Amino acid sequence: MHQYQTVDSDQTVYRDGTIKLHGPEGFEGMRKAGRLAAEILDEVANLVQPGVTTGQIDDLVRQMTLDGGAVPATLGYRGYAHSCCTSINHVICHGIPGDKLLKEGDIVNVDVTPLLDGWHGDSSRMYFAGEPPLKAARLVEVTYECLMLGIEAASKPGARLGDIGAAIEEHARQHRYGVVREFCGHGLGRLFHDAPEVVHAAKAGTGPELKPGMFFTIEPMINLGKPWAKILGDGWTAVTRDKSLSAQFEHSLGITEDGIEIFTKSPKGLDKPPY
Ligand code: MF3
Ligand code: CO
Ligand code: CO
Repeated sequence: MHQYQTVDSDQTVYRDGTIKLHGPEGFEGMRKAGRLAAEILDEVANLVQPGVTTGQIDDLVRQMTLDGGAVPATLGYRGYAHSCCTSINHVICHGIPGDKLLKEGDIVNVDVTPLLDGWHGDSSRMYFAGEPPLKAARLVEVTYECLMLGIEAASKPGARLGDIGAAIEEHARQHRYGVVREFCGHGLGRLFHDAPEVVHAAKAGTGPELKPGMFFTIEPMINLGKPWAKILGDGWTAVTRDKSLSAQFEHSLGITEDGIEIFTKSPKGLDKPPY
């Protein structure tokens, strides 16, 4: 049912539903793009505080992306005109940077995707503006745990795609949090959004087998309340229907012969707040 395609690093690839299996050059390309994504997110940690606008975050991301020899893959993507997404409090994802000021206690996700030498490094982290309420900090911590449990599930030999969502959903359920269904992780590499779709709530033992050379993201969106999402009139901003807080972390990953490689890990160990 699921087709795999072994690809060379310089081969033109299509969004034809096949799952790409990459070689050493692909890993090298993803390592560089992923590292730049992580370095950008490390710098964002120094900027986020009350009184800063999401537009200022976008400016920093754009500048660092360009200085790193990359372009923001989101710029011009389906009409999106910014270099990152900034999703505050009850915004699930795809928040649009602008004049909005961060205020004391806000939690914000910043999602960046530098396109470097033809490879996409896609990653996001949560940040605190000042001191968040305890329940917000707890949601952020558990969401990070969800991501890492998903990665752990994917790193086991013979793992299937559904094992990822099963691990995430189980952890969220224990905390009575809602797992967003409308947005998924995705294959990536030379393409930004490719097969397979990585759902964050699934049944263990289902879906395609994870094979060495597969590149994809895991990016769970976890709500303090119900999982339901809606998109605002701007066509991008996704929010929780019940206005509850939402958190997200994202890593870009590659399946190896004996486990998994995280391309977007922070070189400074700043993978989650407090920074
Ligand atoms: N970076 C997002 C992801 O994780 C996609 C953002 S697309 C945008 O897949 F156009 F909203 F920026
Ligand atoms: Co992504
Ligand atoms: Co992303």
